[in-house]
Amino acid sequence: MKNRVLGIFPVVCSLAMAAGVVYAEFKKGYYSPAELGSLRQAAPIQLLPDANYQVSAYPVPAVDLIPGNGLQDVQIYCNTCHGPRYITMQPPLPAATWEAEVDKMNKTFGAGIPEDNTKRIILYLQGHYTAENRNQ
Ligand code: HEC
Repeated sequence: MKNRVLGIFPVVCSLAMAAGVVYAEFKKGYYSPAELGSLRQAAPIQLLPDANYQVSAYPVPAVDLIPGNGLQDVQIYCNTCHGPRYITMQPPLPAATWEAEVDKMNKTFGAGIPEDNTKRIILYLQGHYTAENRNQ
């Protein structure tokens, strides 16, 4: 009995290896070097001739910043890398922290906001988003 099992074992192994080789041959074409690093494009979706489709702006909820002097500067300069929600989602920050925050956007993250506008933005944030005056 033991001899028979030992006799069958190499046969089973050979069959498994042969199956592996055949499978690898079969799959080989898909990974040809010409295709390395390329992404296959998704098949175009099939539009139904009798369906209604609508294309519109991605719905991003508007962020209401408190009206005031400097708001326009914030909308222009603080909206390029991230939305103004970054301002409203902060807890009320001390005035010095707002100044440091805008400083960080300019110096660390390279916002490059002109000096005049930077000053107005800092005053705006200090005037509306500190513990003493934030009401929204
Ligand atoms: C050049 C790109 C850029 C501009 C312009 C920019 N930010 Fe940022 N801001 C960042 C990056 C990067 C982070 C940190 C990474 C993150 O959380 O997305 C960040 C984070 C913040 C945060 C979260 C707190 C923190 O420090 O991580 C606040 C608040 C913020 N920005 C306010 C502002 C204000 C106010 C302005 C306008 C004066 C502004 N940002 C303009 C790049 C920018």
